[in-house]
This record gives sequence, C-alpha cells and structure tokens, in this order.
Amino acid sequence: MRIGIIGAGPSGLAQLRAFESAAKKGAEIPEVECFEKQSDWGGLWNYTWRTGLGQYGEPIHGSMYKYLWSNGPKECLEFADYSFDEHFGKPISSYPPRPVLFDYIQGRVKKADIRKYIKFNTAARWVSFDEEKKEFTLVLDDLENNRTYSKTFDHLIIATGHFSTPNMPHFKGIENFPGTVMHAHDFRGADQFKGKKLLMIGSSYSAEDIGVQCYKHGAESVTLSYRSNPIGVEWPEGIKEVPLLTHFDKKTAYFSDGSQQEVDAVIMCTGYQHKFPFLPSEMRLKTNNCLYPDGLYKGVVFDNLPQLFYLGMQDQYYTFNMFDAQAWYVRDIIMGKIQIPTQEERQTDIAKWMAGEAATVTHEDHVDFQTDYVRELIDNTDYPSFDLDSVAELFKIWLKQKEENILTYRDQVYKSVMTNTLAVKHHTSWMEEMNDSLDKFLNYKPEAKEV
Ligand SMILES: Cc1cc2nc3c(=O)[nH]c(=O)nc-3n(C[C@H](O)[C@H](O)[C@H](O)COP(=O)(O)OP(=O)(O)OC[C@H]3O[C@@H](n4cnc5c(N)ncnc54)[C@H](O)[C@@H]3O)c2cc1C
Ligand SMILES: NC(=O)c1ccc[n+]([C@@H]2O[C@H](COP(=O)([O-])OP(=O)(O)OC[C@H]3O[C@@H](n4cnc5c(N)ncnc54)[C@H](OP(=O)(O)O)[C@@H]3O)[C@@H](O)[C@H]2O)c1
Repeated sequence: MRIGIIGAGPSGLAQLRAFESAAKKGAEIPEVECFEKQSDWGGLWNYTWRTGLGQYGEPIHGSMYKYLWSNGPKECLEFADYSFDEHFGKPISSYPPRPVLFDYIQGRVKKADIRKYIKFNTAARWVSFDEEKKEFTLVLDDLENNRTYSKTFDHLIIATGHFSTPNMPHFKGIENFPGTVMHAHDFRGADQFKGKKLLMIGSSYSAEDIGVQCYKHGAESVTLSYRSNPIGVEWPEGIKEVPLLTHFDKKTAYFSDGSQQEVDAVIMCTGYQHKFPFLPSEMRLKTNNCLYPDGLYKGVVFDNLPQLFYLGMQDQYYTFNMFDAQAWYVRDIIMGKIQIPTQEERQTDIAKWMAGEAATVTHEDHVDFQTDYVRELIDNTDYPSFDLDSVAELFKIWLKQKEENILTYRDQVYKSVMTNTLAVKHHTSWMEEMNDSLDKFLNYKPEAKEV
C-alpha cells in the first residue's frame, strides 16, 4: 500500500509521526511519502521574508510575520506524546514567540526521524483518480531540478493548510488610495508602519494581532473596521473599532456609521480561501473557514471518495494536538483498524456535527464543540489521551483574559495538562518585549541587565 501526503506543515508532520509511532510499536506500516513545496518543514511556522512568488515562482505559502507570539496558551496546543518539558528541559512561559514554537515542532519530528519521508522543493501540481484501479496519480514538480514526474498512491492525504490564499475584497475608491494596501498574508512585521495611521479591515485574529502588534511597535493610530461583529475588547488609546468601510476618497476612509478617518496604509485582515489548485473540482473540499466543513466524515475523510483525506481544514482553537488526533485517526482507517461506514451513515454523522456547529453561539460554545470533536477522534485511537476538559477550561480562561486586557493577556501563565508543570512568567512583559528570538526567550537573565 502506498500513501501520499501533500504538505509538511504541522498536519503533514503529524501524519508522518502517526505512522512512525505505529512502526515503533511493531506494526507493519505502508509505504509513505510526503511532498513539500518549501525547502523546509513546519508549514506556516517556517517563517519567510518573501512575499508574492518564491525562489521558483511558486505562490508564497507563509502568512506569519516577525514578532508573532502565540495568540493562545501553549498549554492548549501541547503534543500529548512530546511535552514542552521534554523539549526545553525547563518550564517556559505560556505564550512563546514563533521561533520557539517552530523549535518545539521540529524537536518532535527530529526525534522521530521522519525527515527521510519528505521530498522538499516539490510541489503537487495535479491529482487524478483511476476508478478501475482505485488509485491516485499525483503529478509533482521537482522545483530545484525543474523536472515534472508522477507517482501513484492508494491513499492521498491533503495537508496543505488553509491560511495562505488571501480573501481580498474590493472597496470603492481603493484604486486611488495613495498608500500601501496589503493583505495580512503579506504582512511581515510592524517595522514599516512606525508612526503611520493604519486601517485594518476584519475583526478576527489577524486584525486583532496585527493591529495590536503595530500599536506596540509604534504606529500612530490603528483603526479596525468590522463587517459583522466588533472584536469588542476595551482598546487602549490609539486603537479604535468602527463599522464597515464603505469607500475611500484618496487617503480618507469612510465608514457605514458616517465617520471618517485619514489613513496611511490599509491591511486587509479579511481571511483566507480554502484553495487546492492541484485538485480537480470533484476532489476539492469546498468550504468557508468553519469548525465542521461539509463533506468530511469525522472532519478528515472526503465523503465522495474515502481514499482521500484532508487534515487541519477546520477553523482552529485546537491546533497541534487536534492535527495529531486527526492523523492518528486517518492512519487507523488506512491500516484497517477503523472501518469507514456506508455513505448514508457518513452523511448522517456529518449532518449531526454540522447541526452541532450551527447551534453554537459564543466562542465558549465553539471551544466546547471542538473539544468534543477532538475527544471523539482520540477515544478511537491510541493517541495518548489527556484531560480535554481542562484544555477547554484553559481556552475559556484565555478568552476572558483577552477580553479583560488585550495588551497583557500574554503575560499570564498556566499549568500543563500533559505534565502538570506550571509555566514561568516571561522575563519581560509582552508589551515591552521587542525581541522574539529563541536565544533571548530562553537564555536572557534579567539580573545580567546593564546598570
Ligand atoms: C498568521 C497566523 C498565525 C498563527 N498563529 C498560530 C498560533 O499562535 N498558534 C497556533 O496553534 N496556531 C496558529 N496558527 C494556525 C496554523 O494554521 C496552525 O498552527 C498550523 O500551521 C496549521 O498546520 P497545517 O500543516 O495544517 O498547515 P500549514 O502550516 O499551512 O502547512 C501546509 C504546508 O503545505 C505546503 N503546501 C501547500 N501547497 C502545496 C503544494 N501544492 N505542494 C506541496 N506542498 C504544499 C506548504 O508549503 C506548507 O508547508 C496561525 C495561522 C496564521 C495564518
Ligand atoms: N499571533 C497569532 O497567533 C495569530 C495572528 C494572526 C492570525 N492567527 C491565526 O490565523 C488564522 C486566520 O485568522 P484571520 O483573522 O486571518 O481569518 P478569519 O478568522 O477567517 O477572519 C476573517 C475576518 O475577515 C472578515 N472579512 C471577510 N471578508 C470580509 C469583507 N469582505 N469585508 C470585511 N470583512 C471581511 C471576517 O468578518 P466576518 O466576521 O464578517 O465574516 C473576519 O473578521 C486563525 O487561525 C488565527 O488564529 C494567529
């Protein structure tokens, strides 16, 4: 049996780790190959300074930026089979910056020795399915050597993420806006916006985080414009929320409540499209960013073609450990430990979960919904079980603390659900910490500060 995985971000790596862990327990695992278009693993966590097209003319995948700190407690994303304690050898704070989390992700897969399964600088170009042979043909581009080739697989796992292709709406007058207009996907750090008046469109995590980062790094003002609901926290002076932008007249932005604001730059924090240009339409997942995409049994099996799987396609409260739960589940289907029911039963199950999501109202409801989802997967595999109710509780504390103070919530610390270790307070408060390097994060001693 041959298994193809597209993408070596946290989801694709979870899938490799799942197979490797079965092998370690003595199981005979199928032939597995993973294809990654970037030159390294880690997906979005593998920061790139590039925007637009990459070295080989591929659309840049990365949407992360300098000075990005985790926006949720690390205790909520911890791997159940590789703790922060095991990786760092000492307690660290609860909201690490990107390089620290990237290091943690890499620690587990280096230990598991799975790099050998990955072909880097290799882009998936096209997939077809032979109904008679029941196999996929995957056309690949070896970008370094400018060579196209194809491979056949019995199962294909799509782990290409869904926060890379911008959703970029049009607003009247934007053509003549004289300053920078960019999408959050191309934002690489607040440096260029020091002293500038910024407009963010959107009211979700990107708007909140990029807005607050720019404020922290010296933007003159930040205006956040929402379509449906405001973020609604108490903003410090210098940040405000207004309803939806209607149009621009040169540098002036006009909003639906009749207010206006002169701005120097516009950052569209308007979310992303699920985009799979290498898949024919009948194999493509078509969804918006939600907790239970239609057409995916247990959130992973493509209902119209159950040899095809998708990982990490949900909106995400849970991340790394949810990708693990999914990967373990997919592995067990492929290895025959979990049976896929009939299409009718699958669709009943999908409809049940989708109705569950439709009944959610608050962020807390969303957390409970995703907790139940992750629990169902974990209960059916040998992924180390952990106290999901405590993780859900942590998410709810996080939501509350964020609402109480958007500038200080990252200074809070929590107990690990996996090891019970209490995180240590970071040596510098988040608002004062301008250096996001691994070295400063781990090794800086406040007492060594110059006097
Ligand atoms: C700005 C931003 C900040 C975030 N911050 C956090 C955070 O603080 N904490 C948290 O837990 N989560 C955060 N996330 C959520 C993030 O989605 C997950 O942490 C995680 O990266 C998802 O993993 P993934 O493997 O599913 O997708 P990705 O990380 O997107 O990886 C997908 C991989 O597929 C590869 N790929 C894509 N197309 C092809 C192709 N055609 N051929 C070959 N390879 C391909 C890509 O190069 C990439 O390596 C953030 C997301 C964004 C956008
Ligand atoms: N530091 C961090 O860790 C960090 C930082 C940034 C992002 N992230 C992650 O990145 C992921 C993506 O977050 P995101 O905020 O980019 O996307 P998102 O959560 O999908 O939100 C998209 C936002 O765009 C708005 N929008 C869409 N179309 C619009 C339009 N035409 N006009 C006005 N507004 C429009 C939506 O408003 P409606 O509500 O009206 O639909 C919503 O507020 C999340 O997983 C998040 O956790 C993490």
